[in-house]
Amino acid sequence: MEKIAVYGASGFTGRLVVAELARRDVPVVLVGRDDRRLRVAAEGVPRAEVRRAGVEDSSALAAAFDGCAAVVNCVAPFELFGEPVVRAAVVSGCHYVDTNGEQSYLKRVFDTFGEPARQAGICVVPALADDGGPGDLIAHLTAEALGPRADLAELTIADLRRPGAVSRGTARTALANRGLWGGGSGLVWADGAWRDGAAHAAGDRATVPVPEAAAEGEAGDIKVAPFALPGVITVPRHVRAGRIDAVMREEVVPLFAAVTRELVATLPEGPNPAARRASRWLMAAYAVGRDGRRAQGSVTGSDGYGMTAVIAVEGVLRLVAGVPAAGVLAPAQVFDPADFLRALEPHGTRWSAGVDDR
Ligand SMILES: NC(=O)c1ccc[n+]([C@@H]2O[C@H](COP(=O)([O-])OP(=O)(O)OC[C@H]3O[C@@H](n4cnc5c(N)ncnc54)[C@H](OP(=O)(O)O)[C@@H]3O)[C@@H](O)[C@H]2O)c1
Repeated sequence: MEKIAVYGASGFTGRLVVAELARRDVPVVLVGRDDRRLRVAAEGVPRAEVRRAGVEDSSALAAAFDGCAAVVNCVAPFELFGEPVVRAAVVSGCHYVDTNGEQSYLKRVFDTFGEPARQAGICVVPALADDGGPGDLIAHLTAEALGPRADLAELTIADLRRPGAVSRGTARTALANRGLWGGGSGLVWADGAWRDGAAHAAGDRATVPVPEAAAEGEAGDIKVAPFALPGVITVPRHVRAGRIDAVMREEVVPLFAAVTRELVATLPEGPNPAARRASRWLMAAYAVGRDGRRAQGSVTGSDGYGMTAVIAVEGVLRLVAGVPAAGVLAPAQVFDPADFLRALEPHGTRWSAGVDDR
């Protein structure tokens, strides 16, 4: 089996990705800025290699990816440190996935690396974490419930997880995206272009119905607020709709604005195993056809960080097995959405999508 490089392999998510690759018997190259931390992360991982490369050194990065079929980028925050890793993957001819959920970084990756990736013949699939991956795939299946290549009036992507513990890296990422996550609503897709969500707030939903995959205990509609989710950047590439926007459970949104440098310093590297097992993630999509028909889809599971590693590894192994096209692509442009979600079911993921005739 070909080697796969993990950038930021000594971080919380990076170590989970390394473990998932090792569980699937894939030889891993651990790459990052700190040799000592990388060596600790590599302990006990069969056939692991360690290669040191900082994001500021493009030739060291390209050398670190030499001989690898693909790169999984787990750096934090992507807004500050993500792009050099994408560039080096393209230069080295490696397929690429990452665990980012940062809308502005994500849009820059599509805008900057589409042509270089096509020319290099490689596939870049950013935002393959527990929100960007399942959110994109379930949005596609929900739109499709209204007909193949349905032309929708609107589609809303919703992150409906309850408040829960986050990693220090996620909190640092919230700080770096303060303008976006700390009060801004990000972009919406409206009438064929990405536009400032604040200036196009007229279509915003205040509530969404409880999705089918929700855990027990939800009653009534769920209060939501606009939020800059990655699906707004990926979904318009494969779903036709007049408007595509994104919302989050309302009580979670202010928590991002409350993150401070002082708070980050007090956080452990990541939630402990019991907290991870007890947590659930829940992505939903709500589609309205131009004829007024509605469809709804949802996907849920536990342990968002563990599932992010499973999703990124499932994705990168599919890229290495063969890609339908080169370029920067949304998950549903590269993977069969239902087949990919079925592959997550043995890890406790449940999902459904269909016409909503309530
Ligand atoms: N649902 C989601 O959207 C989702 C889920 C999971 C993770 N994520 C994202 O994945 C990212 C990783 O999260 P995490 O909790 O694993 O963070 P983390 O533990 O802080 O790990 C970050 C990694 O980036 C490296 N790094 C930081 N600054 C660097 C720099 N200047 N140059 C080179 N490397 C640098 C760190 O290296 P050292 O080890 O040397 O410090 C570490 O390996 C975050 O952006 C997080 O938001 C998103």
